[in-house]
Amino acid sequence: MELVKIVDEFGNKMHYKRYQGRTYHPDFLGNVGDHLTEIAAYQGQPGDVLLCTFPKSGTHWVFNMVQMIRANNYDYSGTPVVMEFQPISEVESLTSPRMYLTHLGYHSIPMAARQGNIKIIQVLRNPKDTAVSYYEFFNSMKNVAYEGTFDCFLKYFISNEFVAVGSSMFTYMKEWEEAKKDNKKLNVLYLRYEDLKKNLSENILKITKFLNLDRTEDFLRGVEENVLFERLKEKHDSNLGETERWKNNAEGGRLPVYRKGRIGDWKNKFTVAQNEMFDAVYKEKMEEMGLPLDEFVFE
Ligand code: A3P
Repeated sequence: MELVKIVDEFGNKMHYKRYQGRTYHPDFLGNVGDHLTEIAAYQGQPGDVLLCTFPKSGTHWVFNMVQMIRANNYDYSGTPVVMEFQPISEVESLTSPRMYLTHLGYHSIPMAARQGNIKIIQVLRNPKDTAVSYYEFFNSMKNVAYEGTFDCFLKYFISNEFVAVGSSMFTYMKEWEEAKKDNKKLNVLYLRYEDLKKNLSENILKITKFLNLDRTEDFLRGVEENVLFERLKEKHDSNLGETERWKNNAEGGRLPVYRKGRIGDWKNKFTVAQNEMFDAVYKEKMEEMGLPLDEFVFE
């Protein structure tokens, strides 16, 4: 593992951990390699659910909705344990129903999940809103404090130097797409942020079925109300959202995760030129993956 500090062509400083040609977030535990080995070998427990998301895709929203459905109550579950940033002992100390998160690419998730022994819920979001949400997130985190312009960020975001998951969002998607085609054992429910926004009740039902649970219509309607953006934000902004992990990294000691919660916020940020550049990259990458351009809804 190599600690890398770079200054890009625009003078922005970035630091990350590089391991076997991939870039990882500086908070990745230890020397990367040892912890990746531990993650890969993690067997989980019966009934575990692994949440696999590209960051800023609605991870916390889905985490809370799944946990409400499973626990059969409306308790707020806060922020999930992240496999790459926290020791396996923290996953082990979770109580049932257990759900933990990884943003890592397909090839780095636990083997037990790749073999279908741990159910996976995956969430993605249209890449333009993901990029904007990421930029604002980086700007509000003291340990990242990205100082560059959005223009610089966008170029960084589409490159494989991006520190999020060991690759760019497009590489992340490509690896998952191949896995979904090739690995028939995978037990995965794929959700999209925009579908959740447009038809939450249908998606809540999908989750309930995927987990083989039996819940009343009334209860599921209640889940819908309790995971509305304003509700979750209110809970998160109270002392329920405070964590030791975020104490020194973000305003108020909370992960700055509930911002706007809308589809199409990218229109407030992208210039015409940035949009044209991004559309060209998007088209090329989606074609490479054999995915239609309307895979994501952008507004
Ligand atoms: P914005 O920054 O665009 O507002 P993650 O949990 O993966 O970090 O994703 C964060 C994004 O999900 C943020 O997007 C946040 O506002 C949005 N989000 C969180 N809860 C939501 C909800 N209940 N409904 C809609 N969007 C939500």
